[in-house]
Amino acid sequence: MQRNSRWPGFYKLSIGERRKVAADALGINLSELSEALEGGLGAERADKIIENVVGTFSLPFALALNIKVNGTDYIAPMVVEEPSVVAAASNAARMIREGGGFHAEADAPVMIAQVQLDEVPDAAGACERIVRHEGELCALGDAQVPGLVRRGGGMRGLEARDLGEGMMVVHLFVDCRDAMGANLVNTVAEGVATRIQDLCGGSIGLRILSNLCDQRKVRVKSRVPASVLATEQLSGREVRDAIVRASRFAERDPYRATTHNKGLMNGLDAVVIATGNDWRAVESGAHAYAARNGRYEPLCVWTADGDDLVGTLELPLSLGTVGGPSRVHDGARMGLRIVSVQSATELAMVAASVGMASNLAALKALATEGIQRGHMALHARSVAIAAGARTDEVERVASAIHGIGDVTLAAAERVLRELRAYVESEKRTESENPYPAE
Ligand code: HMG
Repeated sequence: MQRNSRWPGFYKLSIGERRKVAADALGINLSELSEALEGGLGAERADKIIENVVGTFSLPFALALNIKVNGTDYIAPMVVEEPSVVAAASNAARMIREGGGFHAEADAPVMIAQVQLDEVPDAAGACERIVRHEGELCALGDAQVPGLVRRGGGMRGLEARDLGEGMMVVHLFVDCRDAMGANLVNTVAEGVATRIQDLCGGSIGLRILSNLCDQRKVRVKSRVPASVLATEQLSGREVRDAIVRASRFAERDPYRATTHNKGLMNGLDAVVIATGNDWRAVESGAHAYAARNGRYEPLCVWTADGDDLVGTLELPLSLGTVGGPSRVHDGARMGLRIVSVQSATELAMVAASVGMASNLAALKALATEGIQRGHMALHARSVAIAAGARTDEVERVASAIHGIGDVTLAAAERVLRELRAYVESEKRTESENPYPAE
């Protein structure tokens, strides 16, 4: 059955109701879903994953809605601590689906293993020799990872570069199929390095993957009809043009491009974390790619085409659906079940689409009313909690401080004091409550 990711008003339900809706829609047993999302990892298991463990650390796990990629609907799991990120991604994905959704493509999941050589007597000649021995070196690389080769992956080629000062590097291209691939390519690099040294002379240096996985890129396009962007004050075309100018600003100024890309990574990282993937690898690859032309640039740009706003995104993205934390973290495993992809490349296309949605939501808000209204309304709840509000006090305090336009800890503490004083007072009629429930 075709899944539908349009769940209007989902955010107005309680957590229990949301779990029920999600379990029914995704065909996942409700108690399994609920158990997996209560932290996902006990201290005892955590102690087997990293060192010096003294506990675990939880973050909110949420669902982004309205995501349609290449005609298929996805529910995207997101783990993130920042208010308004999930709402923003769902909001922009809803606009993008009005124009047919995201159109994405991903390269084959090819990672780069680097073998560094030092003190090479004739590095230029050595590079040529390496290329001449490509067949032999690829066969040797495949022999290091027979399981991967059985699954359809393995060596796809190589290249060698003279880095000057007697230093050279050999890049081994390894198709990692549904794995992120770090361990696989490191195994290949270590297994092939001695033969590379035989061919080149010099001494072996580092043997490690590169996180600039530019053989493994994902590209996303979307088209939003201008009419969908209209606000109460501005026509759709005015909003579209303001978004295009905001995008040009990022293209012309690295200070802006950095924040522009941060907004994109809000959504992308959240999916990466929720599916148990390595967000440091993704971050370092994305930012290196953003700077590939010698200056830091936006990873997603927006242009006008006819009546539409058109978004174009490209970045390297190494995600896995097997191995890594997905083996040991119940939340990550549930994240993968929820997004329900068949391959790592499909996951990369969904994650990048959520990144594009996050970018669009932020730009639309920034280019029109400013970021604070939407963001602050949701941020107010965190401020209320920081002030000590509990259960139903949270929404009352949040809505009061947002309403008076003072989303600060001091305001939240004052409102909370007044609310509690009222509750404890004799005259407890709702009409006299200074901070009624919504
Ligand atoms: P709105 O127009 O008031 O929302 O937007 P709406 O009530 O019309 O609802 C539209 C859809 O948004 C809903 O569809 C939901 O999908 C979603 P429906 O369910 O009705 O069919 N939605 C929500 N989802 C979950 N919880 C909610 C919620 N509200 C709406 N509470 C909204 C309100 C906050 C979404 C909007 O103002 C927005 O998109 N703002 C952008 C906020 C943002 O980008 N936050 C990221 C953090 S800021 C940052 O760090 C990045 C930045 O620096 C990057 C940069 O500079 O580029 C800004």
